[in-house]
Amino acid sequence: MRVGVLTGGGDCPGLNAVIRAVVRKGVEVHGWEFVGFRNGWQGPLTGDSRPLGLADVEDILTRGGTILRSSRTNPYQVDGGVDQIRKVLADQGVDALVAIGGEDTLGVAKRLTDDGIGVVGVPKTIDNDLGATDYTFGFDTAVSIATEAIDRLHTTAESHHRALVIEVMGRHAGWIALHSGLAGGASVILVPERQFSVDQVVQWVERRFEKEYAPIIVVAEGALPEGGEEKLLTGEKDAFGHVRLGGIGNWLADEISERTGKESRAVVLGHVQRGGTPTAYDRVLATRFGLHAVDAVADGDFGVMVALKGTDIVRVKLSEATAELKTVPLERYQEAEVFFG
Ligand code: F6P
Repeated sequence: MRVGVLTGGGDCPGLNAVIRAVVRKGVEVHGWEFVGFRNGWQGPLTGDSRPLGLADVEDILTRGGTILRSSRTNPYQVDGGVDQIRKVLADQGVDALVAIGGEDTLGVAKRLTDDGIGVVGVPKTIDNDLGATDYTFGFDTAVSIATEAIDRLHTTAESHHRALVIEVMGRHAGWIALHSGLAGGASVILVPERQFSVDQVVQWVERRFEKEYAPIIVVAEGALPEGGEEKLLTGEKDAFGHVRLGGIGNWLADEISERTGKESRAVVLGHVQRGGTPTAYDRVLATRFGLHAVDAVADGDFGVMVALKGTDIVRVKLSEATAELKTVPLERYQEAEVFFG
């Protein structure tokens, strides 16, 4: 058996841990061979691949990024894309694919399975917004990085009597904002799931200043003021139709300064949240996902994704996995409100 592995979409800490687990178990338990396809779906589209043996996965458990590189290529946007993939897999003698990715990569995996190509999916995204799995690896690392940043911002904000707005990732789901905001003791948390009133934010900020503390406002990049529009960095869309968000943090800091007369600054965390070594939790989750993905391939159980349910790794249909985004429920957000202001 020869199995292809690829990583697609935005990178995230833990991708290498999955690749390592897949190759270690596949080679040592089943005696399979592996091919690493480079740059997400671009690899199987163009035939760009590299050998992936035991030596290639040594020392990568703790490394951030992905040794296979990534891209947001969508083969369904390429004329004859699926036939091209079929030909590359046949030419390279690849019997099955393990695709590690988020909503978009797994959406393609599902369509390819429907088109007769055997794919097993592994969920990844720092956003933790994939339905059908309790957690995705990468999320814990992103939250830890954001929390450390918030801890540091508290002390400097207090020294200077400033409000500090910290913009974190999260296009449609505010999980990183909610968890890092709670862990870091933020004075306000703003998520894409719930439009916010700038007047209300200003009230919370002023109340915080009255208590002789400096307000820390955590805002997800996709959060929206009531009646406002998403703040875009550019109007361009990627192959899956996503725009590049960014700017809400600076915009909100300016509004706060103007309305309170107090100095307010913004910090945009950006890709710092996606880089570097994964936390122990993410290494373990990524490793377990990789091991169970190999089991699914061994069973010929294609069109599924491995998922975390409680403490168990289970298999779910890719159609179920990509059906809907897991957003922050209102009651989870409301839990945090007691700390606002
Ligand atoms: O989906 C993961 C994610 O990190 C989002 O939180 C963010 O909006 C997006 O990727 C950024 O993508 P890129 O690095 O391609 O600009």
